[in-house]
Amino acid sequence: MKTQVAIIGAGPAGLLLGQLLTVAGIDNIILERRSADYVLSRIRAGVLEQGTVDLLREAGVDTNLDAHGLVHDGFDIAFAGERVRIDLAGLTGGKHVTVYGQTEVTRDLMNARQSLGASTYYQAEDVQPQAIDTDSPYVTFIHEGEQYRLDCAYIAGCDGFHGVSRSCIPEDRLKTFEREYPLGWLGVLSDTPPVAEELIYATHERGFAMCSMRSPSRSRYYIQVPDTESPDNWSDEAFWAELKRRLPEPVADTLVTGASIEKSVAPLRSFVAEPMQHGRLILLGDAAHIVPPTGAKGLNLAVSDVNTAYRLFQAIYNDGRADLLERYSATCLSRVWKTERFSWWMTANLHKFSATEDFDTRMQQAELGYYLGSKAGRATIAENYVGLPFAELEQ
Ligand code: APR
Ligand code: PHB
Repeated sequence: MKTQVAIIGAGPAGLLLGQLLTVAGIDNIILERRSADYVLSRIRAGVLEQGTVDLLREAGVDTNLDAHGLVHDGFDIAFAGERVRIDLAGLTGGKHVTVYGQTEVTRDLMNARQSLGASTYYQAEDVQPQAIDTDSPYVTFIHEGEQYRLDCAYIAGCDGFHGVSRSCIPEDRLKTFEREYPLGWLGVLSDTPPVAEELIYATHERGFAMCSMRSPSRSRYYIQVPDTESPDNWSDEAFWAELKRRLPEPVADTLVTGASIEKSVAPLRSFVAEPMQHGRLILLGDAAHIVPPTGAKGLNLAVSDVNTAYRLFQAIYNDGRADLLERYSATCLSRVWKTERFSWWMTANLHKFSATEDFDTRMQQAELGYYLGSKAGRATIAENYVGLPFAELEQ
């Protein structure tokens, strides 16, 4: 088998890159370890930056997004007994975010790929990039018991944090940076109307809580728990009771509760691998970096890598600029680190880390008090939340 770009992983990064390349006439094949149903069963965040929406539109995947995406002009941070609104539109000259589940983005991309007839191998086993240091790389894998070799010009590693691609970069070339937080988010999805029209990030002495949504009749709520916590330890009743305790009283009083349709604990971690390219292999999305969910940047950061990779492949195939491959990593990383900073800042300042009132807790209060009380501070939060501009591949 032969293609131009072999894509490993059918998460949002792999699927969106595949869609953009196919529309642009650049041949690609996706190899995914799991089944399509398994990929679609993963519930993840649901806030899209404007740049993410624009790129989905460029890929021609905007019908459901336009029909069901909820445009949000602001969100609230509950702090010290007050709800402070971050007026995204007012503070950024009219920018906003769109609330639309990552699962839906993935489903839309899978359907679009199928209707273009582009090829995807689900349940591909033992996927292995080969000869990435040469001009003739290839990927080997097993599908339905048969061994395959996929020859290609480039390999796009979109296979998430636990994928195989990152480990193909020689150990002496790869440097990783990591911060683990001793906490997780216990999330519940329920068919209940959202408690507020906009998202609420709530600080509380019992721990952080947040209110999000998927539609006018489907809500997503989270509470901070220890990272060792199991969702099995939480009945629906216990979850709702704890969530209510952590929300401002007027919000808690209007919360509509109901049966959970999904309950899971997500760990919180910051991670970056450098460089994001070695030979003919590039890394995109969670394969190269992880952000904690505070600020909803995971999917958006994957999409900004996709944007860079897509511009790169266009430059290579339309303008003969194979030399630009060398710029891929630095271009992506300049934006990755800024987004890592924002996700870390939100995480560090909105959660409870210490059982006692110590210097760090006072610093959190001072930090939030300062940022939320200052128009410039709120503008900084807003500018990051709606998404920093995509980094340009220097030509
Ligand atoms: N071979 C083939 N596919 C693999 C392999 C492998 N060895 N390892 C992992 N995969 C697949 C996974 O099954 C998954 O479907 O790669 C895909 C990676 O998808 P994601 O983990 O969703 O990563 P990404 O596309 O970068 O999306 C980033 O989505 O995962 C969330 O929190 C993440 O919001 C972030 C965004
Ligand atoms: C979500 O809707 O799941 C969500 C929203 C905002 C976040 C994280 C998750 O910061």
